[in-house]
Amino acid sequence: MALSSVWNYCVPLTIITVACLVRNARCQAVQAENVTVMEGGTAEISCRLQNYDGSIVVIQNPRRQTLFFNGTRALKDDRFQMVLFTPRLVRIELTNVSVSDEGGYFCQLYTDSTHHQVATLSVLVPPETPTVEVKQEAVEGGEVELTCMSPRSKPAATLRWVRNGREIPGVVSQQDNGKTFSVSSTIRIPVERKDNGAALSCEAFHVALGGQKRIRHYRLDVYFAPTVRIVPPTGILREGDSLSLTCSVTGNPLPRNIQWSKINDTLPERAEISGPTLQISRLSQSYNGTYLCQAQNNYGRAADHYTLLVYDNVSPPTTSTTAVPPTPTTTQQITSHSTTPTLPTPSFAPDPEDPGAVVETHSAVPYAVIGGVLALLVFTVICVLIVTIWCSVRQKGSYRTREPILAWY
Ligand SMILES: *[C@@H]1O[C@H](CO)[C@@H](O)[C@H](O)[C@H]1NC(C)=O
Ligand SMILES: *[C@@H]1O[C@H](CO)[C@@H](O)[C@H](O)[C@H]1NC(C)=O
Ligand SMILES: *[C@@H]1O[C@H](CO)[C@@H](O)[C@H](O)[C@H]1NC(C)=O
Ligand SMILES: *[C@@H]1O[C@H](CO)[C@@H](O)[C@H](O)[C@H]1NC(C)=O
Ligand SMILES: *[C@@H]1O[C@H](CO)[C@@H](O)[C@H](O)[C@H]1NC(C)=O
Repeated sequence: MALSSVWNYCVPLTIITVACLVRNARCQAVQAENVTVMEGGTAEISCRLQNYDGSIVVIQNPRRQTLFFNGTRALKDDRFQMVLFTPRLVRIELTNVSVSDEGGYFCQLYTDSTHHQVATLSVLVPPETPTVEVKQEAVEGGEVELTCMSPRSKPAATLRWVRNGREIPGVVSQQDNGKTFSVSSTIRIPVERKDNGAALSCEAFHVALGGQKRIRHYRLDVYFAPTVRIVPPTGILREGDSLSLTCSVTGNPLPRNIQWSKINDTLPERAEISGPTLQISRLSQSYNGTYLCQAQNNYGRAADHYTLLVYDNVSPPTTSTTAVPPTPTTTQQITSHSTTPTLPTPSFAPDPEDPGAVVETHSAVPYAVIGGVLALLVFTVICVLIVTIWCSVRQKGSYRTREPILAWY
């Protein structure tokens, strides 16, 4: 994990404190470097020496407790190790750095207590992947309130809400918890049913992450009342046929129970219900009536109805290709759907304003007309073929141009 990895950058210090002892011919100096490290990482604190003459080198922590006295450990903290002591360089290492280790580390020559160098240790705390909290659940037609939170970072992380590659500006709040910060960004967005499942993300940016970001993905869960629609059978139904009605239901949460019923009557004994499908085998005219499918969830209820008309086996239309006068008023199957919470009063007339209404008119006239036109077409094609073959046989040999053929187009 990046958090625990060693990641430090050393900023070279240009200023050299010269601890020149006036009486000394040689001029000694120490030079310290600022260090920035990630929390949990390892910090190397270096102290450069110039013209070192064997004097005692003292290294102290930000509380001015002596860590090392000329290479000998003075403070009992195993996280500090002296890794190098040469006439040019003294280096100590601090493992598992925490934010409380921050501050100035002193490096000085014992011979001159007035001159010292301070290496400032800075600790970065990169944010974890932020979390998303729903403050107000998303109901169709309302607003959803989402809060993205990053509880701990140093310096404060930057949070950004994104949807479809575009930023949604949020209300940012930042809290100082001593050494670290907690940051949150809250957005309120209006939601419709089409927003259900929409993808949002909250991104956390931070200096310790380089160009990377930590992303929390979130899918909108928009609650909405059900819709119900009966998928009607095509064509007309006669005695002995079987009926299969499927009730297609939406809603969030999806209604668990789908209820089938018959208005002003009980469902026929032969009716079989499996999930969203109602099946009646061997129809008889006594099954005529209005069938209802209903579903509900916490946000509302909906129903759709289907009017079943079973025809006897002797009435037209027959299989004859001769035109039979249409009898549209007795050959309609109507379904309409409704999302009103109360039971709809079924209408036997087609409702032109209801886009869900399906009116199927079965008539022999279109078949007769289509049959006639088809016959005529076939006849024409045969005639044309005969003439073509006849012409080509007769003109074989003398036929040079493509004009006779082109003339057909
Ligand atoms: C080291 O850090 C201290 C404290 O933040 C700052 O005053 C000083 O200028 C820094 N030195 C360098 C060389 O960046
Ligand atoms: C301090 O330590 C260095 C390196 O080990 C050594 O050369 C020097 O003599 C020591 N100075 C004293 C006063 O002990
Ligand atoms: C690092 O320090 C933290 C507390 O600052 C401690 O909980 C953790 O166990 C330490 N990890 C190691 C590997 O020593
Ligand atoms: C159901 O019965 C009521 C009252 O008897 C009547 O008004 C209504 O039209 C009937 N509905 C159907 C679909 O038959
Ligand atoms: C059922 O509907 C068909 C078509 O409208 C009709 O011819 C028949 O008389 C009806 N039967 C009953 C029992 O209502």
